[in-house]
Amino acid sequence: MYCVRNVTEDLYWVGANDRRLSLFENIHPIQKGVSYNSYLLLDDSTVLFDTIDWSSCRQFIENIEYVLNGRKLDYVVINHMEPDHGASLEEILIRYPDVKVISTQKAFALAKQFGFSTDSHECITVKEGDTMSFGKHNVTFITAPMVHWPEVMVTFDTTNGVLFSADAFGTFGALNGKLFNDEMDFDKEFLGEARRYYANIVGKYGPQVQALLKKAAGIMDKIKFICPLHGPVWRSNFEYFIDKYNKWSLYEPEEKGVMIAYASMYGNTESAAEALAAELVKKGITNVALYDVSTTHVSELISEAFRLSHIVLASVTYNMGIYPVMHNFIADMKALNVQNRTFAIIENGSWACNVGGLMQKAVEGELKNCTVLEKRLTLASSMLPDKAQQLEDLANAIAESLNN
Ligand code: FEO
Repeated sequence: MYCVRNVTEDLYWVGANDRRLSLFENIHPIQKGVSYNSYLLLDDSTVLFDTIDWSSCRQFIENIEYVLNGRKLDYVVINHMEPDHGASLEEILIRYPDVKVISTQKAFALAKQFGFSTDSHECITVKEGDTMSFGKHNVTFITAPMVHWPEVMVTFDTTNGVLFSADAFGTFGALNGKLFNDEMDFDKEFLGEARRYYANIVGKYGPQVQALLKKAAGIMDKIKFICPLHGPVWRSNFEYFIDKYNKWSLYEPEEKGVMIAYASMYGNTESAAEALAAELVKKGITNVALYDVSTTHVSELISEAFRLSHIVLASVTYNMGIYPVMHNFIADMKALNVQNRTFAIIENGSWACNVGGLMQKAVEGELKNCTVLEKRLTLASSMLPDKAQQLEDLANAIAESLNN
């Protein structure tokens, strides 16, 4: 059965939801699924904006055939060639032999690399600022390299104010029949997944996202719809989501608060982390979140690192080094460019406690503009009462830093 939604009178969402995939990019858990968005314009010419992942191609084809209602497909615009969007291109080329493909030079090169053969079709290579008319609708192509791959462009329909924004403004989470941001409680239903998507998929490319936001600012008064490749379509309250994107891409914390990430073998480091959380709350700092790095997927940890201003790393010493999952979290923060945060350290070691120094070196040496508070809680095996003063001092130092 087809499942489509009108975006405007002559523009249709023809994408699909995927609730079967457990790991996006085979690494990020997506318990709430994901949508692959594609849009079909019926003008004098018919134009498909991006395809979708191969896994949902059957639904996609059914949707397209329903909307076309016997018309042929004239153009397919590829804004992003990553296979979660480009993988169904070949099926479109086979089914619609006269379709012309519009994309960037880099995208055509990537299509070849992935084996999506476009050779038997007319390929129209576009670059920054190029325009095309499909009848009533005129579009401008705007390059957006590294948001999130090098070939990416976004397409702006100047006739109806629709911005096809590729991965930008996308989120994890399948659409539950609701397509538009104003049909849902976005904060409750999507914000966490939007942040996790941004931080883990696009997070590394803050400067490139900033460059795109600056281009968007130039046409902001003309944008009526933002149509990303994942998640809801935005048709109101743009400022809300753009503000989130602005903060995330500048690596500014969204909120003042404390993330306590602990790596504990027998529960003793965990106990210290719990005690610190309680001390902070007693001091009136209630925006505190604890995570066991052994059981929390690193994509969640990264998402929280993007949200909060202060990060406490609490780890046991393991093989004279940093506990592996904590090491992985720090490495991922580096890879995803986490910066502008204040860190604090709890270290534990039963006979040679050196993990605190190693974590401090990693944070100060590898994360941009991050500082580590001088006060540190050092444990020898467990949190005994003689450490109460150190705990209190650490909590005070965090509170003072937060209140500055
Ligand atoms: Fe949703 Fe970069 O692909």
